[in-house]
Amino acid sequence: MSWPASQAVTNPCQQWRAPFMFISADVELKDEGRRLILHAAGQRREFAALWLRERAPDDTTLDTRTGQRLIEAAQLPLTLCAETASCEADSLHVRFSDGHATAYALNDLLLDTDADHAEVEPGLRLWDAGLDALPQATFASALEDDGALLAMLEDLHRYGFVKVSGVPCEADGMQPLIDRIGPLRRTNWGGIADVKSVANAFDLTMTQRGLEPHTDNPYRDPIPGYIWLHCLSNAADGGDSTLTDGFMAAQRLKAEAPEDFACLTRLSPRFRYTDATTDLESEGPLIELDSRGRLARVRYSNRTERIAAHDAALLERYYAARQRFYRLITDEALTVHLKLGPGDMLIMDNYRLLHGRTAYQLEGGVRHLRQGYVDRDSTASRRRVLGAQLAGNARPGASHTAQGVNP
Ligand SMILES: [Fe+2]
Repeated sequence: MSWPASQAVTNPCQQWRAPFMFISADVELKDEGRRLILHAAGQRREFAALWLRERAPDDTTLDTRTGQRLIEAAQLPLTLCAETASCEADSLHVRFSDGHATAYALNDLLLDTDADHAEVEPGLRLWDAGLDALPQATFASALEDDGALLAMLEDLHRYGFVKVSGVPCEADGMQPLIDRIGPLRRTNWGGIADVKSVANAFDLTMTQRGLEPHTDNPYRDPIPGYIWLHCLSNAADGGDSTLTDGFMAAQRLKAEAPEDFACLTRLSPRFRYTDATTDLESEGPLIELDSRGRLARVRYSNRTERIAAHDAALLERYYAARQRFYRLITDEALTVHLKLGPGDMLIMDNYRLLHGRTAYQLEGGVRHLRQGYVDRDSTASRRRVLGAQLAGNARPGASHTAQGVNP
């Protein structure tokens, strides 16, 4: 790849302004070319030369079919630098000290950032009891129409839940819609499993007692991503569903009591489930942040939490923080109530939402729900791919379907 030498910035730190640009951009080299400073679209971005080199968007660095890297990035010399750099139109051209030359779309570089300081992923809508209208979808539309399916998946992503109506009142009535998204997650309880009152219940879910707001199965690894809860009948007295946005509760906690918030992000209790044939255990904080410090996951399962015998002062700190968080997740101001009827289904983000139910009396009639789990990665993948397809954007390797196992 070549471009006019007169338009290139040469090391050290020589600056050049491109005469013809879709995006007004300047580039300069710094630290003997180990870093590039890009001024574009009102931003000042600094890039490590090594980062640019290992991400070079060309067919000797990345496989054109899969987008996967062909070179061994860990073998690039740590002293690698950019020898020249220039902006032309909407591209950044760089020649590196290992002789490689390539060009980057400025837009792609500007979008690839970890510099935002949002508390949650952009695009999520946090809510409380004042939520205007429940995000809703209809089973038949989502099953038959890709646009309706995408709208459902986007609402699920944005709000953390969606209520689906018109699900066939059959034992596995949800299955055809699951098949449109990703594989059903099987557990020791099987695939789609009953949620109803039984004698000698193996889990408190299978009793008539009310359930505090909780996330499901934090004792598993990985924790189930989405809960699909399908109502076949709900004529019992009580048995209303409650929903709380765990990210909203966590955000309130951070505003009200930053030390409590910090405590719950740092201390990781264990969670355990046992029965005659199963012994599951995992651990993690009640509020988990991602590498950017954004809310990534909440865990809350009073029934199965088992914190280690830490020193008393640390436990006192934790118990106070947990109590404050509990007050928030049970606060009516943050709680949405609804009662599922036959053919209704809730799909809930188990990394964000806390769900519960009021106690119920079987004298009033039968309460029978069915529940399945679907993982987060397959659900997110379906949303992104469908979104790109409906927007008319071809994806790398779009004609290719994986046939084997990706190591
Ligand atoms: Fe549950």
